[in-house]
Amino acid sequence: MMISSLWIFLGLSLTPVAFALNNGVGLTPAMGWNPYNAFLCTTTETQYRAAAQSLISLGLSTLGYKYVNLDCGWQGKTRNSTGGFTWDTSTIPSGIPALSTFVHNLGLKFGVYSDGGVFACDFVGGTAHYLGSLGHETSDANSFASWGADYLKYDNCYAVNSTDFVDFNPPISTHYTAMRDALAATKRPIVFSICEWGVQDPARWPASTVGNSNDIGPPVSWDNLFRIINQLVPITQFAGPGAFNDLDMLEVGNAGLTAAEQQTHFAFWAAAKSPLIISTDLTSPSTQTLNILKNTRIIALNQDSLGKSISFKRRYTNDHDVWAGPLADGSTAAVIINWQNSSRSLTFNLADVSFSSATATDLITGTSVGKLTTSYTATVAAHGSIVLKLSGGVAAPAPTFTFYNAAASTNTLAGGANTRTVSSSVTVVGFVGNGGTLTINNVDGGAAGGTKTLSIDYINGDFVFGNTDCSNCRNAFISVNGGAAVQVQMPISAQSWDILFSGYLVSLSGFKAGKTNTITVSNPNAFAPDFYRIGVSV
Ligand SMILES: *[C@@H]1O[C@H](CO)[C@@H](O)[C@H](O)[C@H]1NC(C)=O
Ligand SMILES: *[C@@H]1O[C@H](CO)[C@@H](O)[C@H](O)[C@H]1NC(C)=O
Ligand SMILES: *[C@@H]1O[C@H](CO)[C@@H](O)[C@H](O)[C@H]1NC(C)=O
Repeated sequence: MMISSLWIFLGLSLTPVAFALNNGVGLTPAMGWNPYNAFLCTTTETQYRAAAQSLISLGLSTLGYKYVNLDCGWQGKTRNSTGGFTWDTSTIPSGIPALSTFVHNLGLKFGVYSDGGVFACDFVGGTAHYLGSLGHETSDANSFASWGADYLKYDNCYAVNSTDFVDFNPPISTHYTAMRDALAATKRPIVFSICEWGVQDPARWPASTVGNSNDIGPPVSWDNLFRIINQLVPITQFAGPGAFNDLDMLEVGNAGLTAAEQQTHFAFWAAAKSPLIISTDLTSPSTQTLNILKNTRIIALNQDSLGKSISFKRRYTNDHDVWAGPLADGSTAAVIINWQNSSRSLTFNLADVSFSSATATDLITGTSVGKLTTSYTATVAAHGSIVLKLSGGVAAPAPTFTFYNAAASTNTLAGGANTRTVSSSVTVVGFVGNGGTLTINNVDGGAAGGTKTLSIDYINGDFVFGNTDCSNCRNAFISVNGGAAVQVQMPISAQSWDILFSGYLVSLSGFKAGKTNTITVSNPNAFAPDFYRIGVSV
């Protein structure tokens, strides 16, 4: 996705998508190279050719990195006399068909880039006016196929009209279905990469459509990763062979992330089944860059035939996240991210992935960790991660909860907190925070009180494209019996305010025996999510 420099400084971010075409390609996430994060819209034919040769000479193509994809800046600005798509002959002097042949002759695959709007995106504030494909879908799809394109990245600028460069609420799903159908009609298997920026929640588009993502940069920072990881929380279930959530192109090898952050980025993207599109200058990669990109165990995680994404299991706010998901051989992949800003000893509780014991392999190092019981503790770098393959997992006993509806009349709503009807079966309490508080009364602390696990069902539709204090999340501060409030960072539950996240877990102490406990939710300086119910472990 292409954004103007203005956007970058505003910190806005966009979202590409992989779009199911049922054409036999895209059954596992695409792997390849795209220039954008390194060269923006000024990539030359020489650089495209060099990148293709680097994929071969560096041994990347044999690991699966096959696609050499164009991004913005290659296109012409006017169509030819018969209305055909053209290229900029100063940028691509030998022409697109010759470049495509060059790439194919190396045994690689060739990707083109266009836009579903009137003009394409650019990096000069929308003034370049490169060709877009709106209204020319059939003819352009035929041109791309005739050039031997194997992949189309389809952007979203000028979606509304010829003056509105970037619109965050364009009526555009038909732009994507029109091109999807035009590509299908060519009969050439072409991966359709929807660069829709996530603005219309394309992961939820009907009928075997899509997955989703978000502009990672440039420039990239650790905060961008936090934003994208939160954005993924409500849509992991949509990933599957043929349609994957696209978390955006890789920043491995680029300035802005530490080595540990790049490793976490790569492993998380892989385990979430995002396309792995290298987007750095491959003419002089560091050993560190190549070590990350060439990790065959992490690549295998990405290319696993089951195609299921890891999903959000548990957040220990400001400390670590636990994500996990199934693999084709029946094992489980787990990714534990260290949110702390320093190297530390991190304990992963197996119960957070519903196991009491399992046999583990560290997929970053390849080391067998052996049989784990209850937990695993390792030293993890600042913003580093633990990536495990867990086999032979023994199920942990599932906790049971007593649920308290937030909107129950026995609760205390104060300072503006109010009920909101979501559906015939769900009423939530909103306007919690900024003075509003929700207090759940008469909570049962059981015979002993002490520490309890809470399981929270909530709605948070506060999605963003730029970094905020809590990007694609909201903070709640929860206190038991008036004790110290504990910060709980809750990711979005959807990109709308009508879909629940169920089962956000947090452990809190301070419960007394018996049924006179209170749980109070607040936020002194921002809004918390809307709460449906809170379960307290029995
Ligand atoms: C116009 O462009 C299309 C697509 O590249 C091509 O097939 C056609 O031959 C071109 N027409 C002329 C007159 O150059
Ligand atoms: C283009 O779309 C924008 C946003 O909807 C609108 O404000 C503007 O008036 C439109 N311009 C034209 C020429 O239609
Ligand atoms: C890490 O450092 C940043 C920048 O100082 C700070 O905003 C953030 O809260 C810190 N994170 C943790 C988990 O301490």
